[in-house]
Amino acid sequence: MTEQTRVLRDALDSLREPLFIVEDNKGCVFANSALFQFLGIKRPEDSVLDLSEFWPGVTVGSFRGEEIASEFKLKSGDAFAVKLSIQTIHEHTWIVRVLAGVSRSDALHNFHAHRLETLGMLAGGVAHDFNNVLAGILGHITYLKMILPARGTHTESLSAIEDGAKKASTLTQQILSFSKLEGGEKVEEVNVCELARGACKLLRGAISPEYSLECNLPQAPVCVLAVEGKLAQVIVNLVINARDAIGPEGFIRVSVATVDSEKELEAAFGTKELSSKSYARLTVTDNGHGMDEAVLEKIFEPYFSTKKDKGTGLGLAVVREIVQLFGGAILVESKVNVGTTISVYLPIVSAAAQQPRLSKGAPSKPELPRGSERILVIDDEYPVRNVLCVSLEHLGYEVDVAESGKEAIEKYQASQRYDLVLLDMIMPQLSGDQVFVELKKFDPTVRVLVISGFSSETAVRSILNSGGRGFIQKPFTIEELSKNVRSCLA
Ligand SMILES: Nc1ncnc2c1ncn2[C@@H]1O[C@H](COP(=O)(O)OP(=O)(O)OP(=O)(O)O)[C@@H](O)[C@H]1O
Ligand SMILES: [Mg+2]
Repeated sequence: MTEQTRVLRDALDSLREPLFIVEDNKGCVFANSALFQFLGIKRPEDSVLDLSEFWPGVTVGSFRGEEIASEFKLKSGDAFAVKLSIQTIHEHTWIVRVLAGVSRSDALHNFHAHRLETLGMLAGGVAHDFNNVLAGILGHITYLKMILPARGTHTESLSAIEDGAKKASTLTQQILSFSKLEGGEKVEEVNVCELARGACKLLRGAISPEYSLECNLPQAPVCVLAVEGKLAQVIVNLVINARDAIGPEGFIRVSVATVDSEKELEAAFGTKELSSKSYARLTVTDNGHGMDEAVLEKIFEPYFSTKKDKGTGLGLAVVREIVQLFGGAILVESKVNVGTTISVYLPIVSAAAQQPRLSKGAPSKPELPRGSERILVIDDEYPVRNVLCVSLEHLGYEVDVAESGKEAIEKYQASQRYDLVLLDMIMPQLSGDQVFVELKKFDPTVRVLVISGFSSETAVRSILNSGGRGFIQKPFTIEELSKNVRSCLA
């Protein structure tokens, strides 16, 4: 290669725009590095690329100076639509520039994100139904605890059932917040400890039982500003990578700590200015095969993977993107045959105490606020409807039930008015918010207490903004129910 050719080649390589040069008879004689990046394929030594490798069926002789829409197709089957500009630079030589198109890495990235999203939605759907079953079980337990003597042969069994149901309920809440249904894309204060605890519980199912997955999490909350679902994705990707790296004697440890050592933060952030004094450090450690220098250098590159067909190579690229989005940094330490430690640093926000939701159930018989008003319960799920009905009647109320929105509207219109309506959100045909609109049309003073598994649901917020009296999250205890009902009737 002459000096002049090298300079020209370097100049074309320095351009961000993917381009290649085509000669009649010879095909593609040069492609710049941006094109290889765009196609997501490795660049051969001589930068020469057979046109059929990415643009099958094209006839070089038909080129005119023009802009065209076309499609690149790789042997792997990946295809992407492109807009090209073709310029004649010689009688039989053309330069082809890619003006627009979705690169392979973008396409893969979208696929990865989409796959995670689908899994999240699926898990969320299952968790939602499961939550309703639990609401029934927990409700009946609190009811039984109230009507049975405080001490007896039944006490231990009842407590065991209650513990089990509460554990299942915490797990369900975790799955709900993993799925995009709860929380959505909202940036909020997230307690990393609690998130990691829940993630570990879920991930145990994805890891062979002979491996150990340890959690080392402080009781005190360590809060950061982030989108909960995205942070969960970080933990999942790191733990799954650790799982893939460990052997029969493997262990994985997930830990969270607060860090304010300048030295450590400098190692993670380099010269970047720090936005906080203290950082949350989420660490995933394994004693797997580790990584050598060559692998370490590339791990954050999109679609770099040593797992052949088993990995997309996007896990860590996604992790880095998420961590940077929330003002954080990542530190990787690894030794071949010893193991790997990956630490994620995120700026801490206030460490406001977060109460675990289900610790509220009082152990002894509580004094519950009672009443005698008429209440209409609308829920399509039998266990929820049933426990609401039994509990409310126990508290002295007169209760009527409806299994659907349609039945509820008919009952409401036919009756001599109810003092309160307990309204489920997610129902087939008429959803809770539609029922609310209909009831309001008929009776603008209608009092509604919304029941839902998702506190952040837009429909819930819209009802509360337009006159709904209150909200109660499933699963609920009889204490929560009685208090909320009273305050709505006040
Ligand atoms: N804990 C680890 N121990 C050893 N090697 C690791 C570890 N984490 C990541 N790697 C290396 O980094 C590479 C890139 O990881 P990344 O998560 O981006 O992709 P992947 O795991 O190969 O694919 P995917 O995440 O799509 O399943 C891995 O293929 C592996 O070689
Ligand atoms: Mg991975």
